[in-house]
Amino acid sequence: MITKAKLIDNVQFIYELALAQMELRSFGIEYKILNNLREFELLNLNFEKENMLVKRLAYFKTINSKVTDYYKIIKYNVTKSVNQYLTHWIYPYKGKFHPQMIRALLNIIGLNRGDTVLDPFIGSGTTAVEAQLLGINCIGIDVSPLCVLQSKVKVESIYVLDKIKALRNDAIRAFSSSNSGGLSLFLEESADYNGFLESIDDERVKNFYLLAKLVALSDQVRRSRKILDSFIKNLDLMIKSVEYYAKVVRELDLKLGMVKIMRCDARSLPLKDESVDGIITSPPYSIALDYVKNDAHALKALGYDLEKIREEFIGVRGTGSRRIELYNKDMIKCLNEMYRVLKPNRYCVIILGNATYQGREIKTVEFVIDYCQKIGFKLVNNIDKIIYGLYNVMQKENILIFRKVE
Ligand SMILES: C[S@@+](CC[C@H](N)C(=O)[O-])C[C@H]1O[C@@H](n2cnc3c(N)ncnc32)[C@H](O)[C@@H]1O
Repeated sequence: MITKAKLIDNVQFIYELALAQMELRSFGIEYKILNNLREFELLNLNFEKENMLVKRLAYFKTINSKVTDYYKIIKYNVTKSVNQYLTHWIYPYKGKFHPQMIRALLNIIGLNRGDTVLDPFIGSGTTAVEAQLLGINCIGIDVSPLCVLQSKVKVESIYVLDKIKALRNDAIRAFSSSNSGGLSLFLEESADYNGFLESIDDERVKNFYLLAKLVALSDQVRRSRKILDSFIKNLDLMIKSVEYYAKVVRELDLKLGMVKIMRCDARSLPLKDESVDGIITSPPYSIALDYVKNDAHALKALGYDLEKIREEFIGVRGTGSRRIELYNKDMIKCLNEMYRVLKPNRYCVIILGNATYQGREIKTVEFVIDYCQKIGFKLVNNIDKIIYGLYNVMQKENILIFRKVE
């Protein structure tokens, strides 16, 4: 009998087909691609390997007609976007990873339960959620307090779901009395809601309700929604996503990885030499996006001074071409740190694209490859990944896979 593996329907691009094959190879599977290009014949499968593939693969729908865990997980989604399942959707952060790609990369670089992956630019927490689901421990670092908050909420709320649900009505009451002005801006009037937050003992529950406020604020700033309606709608969706997460853990009998999220600077990591088993990350793409300006309303609502905090971010310090110089200097520090904390012979994946400045491409990808090779990383794969979307300025990014050679 032929053993077949079928790709998930949303696999459309060459880079995804490449990653799907790399996943199979990382589990020691030999295969033939069948004529329709969406099915593989698996050649050396035994019962144990079959179960492993069902539990771990990212790009496959079925193995030998058994439905994969991942295909079941992505059904638990409160949004219309296939990539925003479970808690991934919470907070509209610009520049999120495709979670499916991160799951595949965790497999490809050979990480297993109990190993630790580091993402020193954790952003919206994609690596943390995907590692947690696979039972891999994760250290997520970001200099942005907004990123730290959203990453924590996405992975920690599942442990306090009952406490979160018990406070839903109190939160809505506090929010509506903070916002008696309807469409008027919420910030100045939020004494009742702030009092509600202060009354919560458990840090994880408090973070959940703080983020719920920021989601509503961001909805109001970006789309002029009525803030109270938006608060209630998003709060209920957030609770539903965490319920889904808990359900998936139960139904698939997942043993979650431990996650630690920290607000720190990637230029100086608070980690010991050779202490992590893998790195998957995406630093700012040179000066392409001003993360401070982009999240100004939320950072202000969290009580931060924008000018002060700007100094800690890479890619936004200085002006004009000086900004690119500073970015390169900062990146060198980050890459040295990533090399230092990674165990020998393990892998570091960097996803990066070239931005444009005054009509010219800034060659950050080439700069990073050169520098990494100088300090002892060997480039083992460089995969072109197109960025799909009508309004994207950037056309492609690269998935760079390095190995730390001794
Ligand atoms: C491309 S984004 C990461 C997005 C992430 N992969 C995701 O899925 O959401 C880059 C991140 O680098 C962070 N960052 C900028 N300077 C930093 C620094 N010095 N240390 C740590 N993080 C920094 C920004 O806050 C931003 O979240």
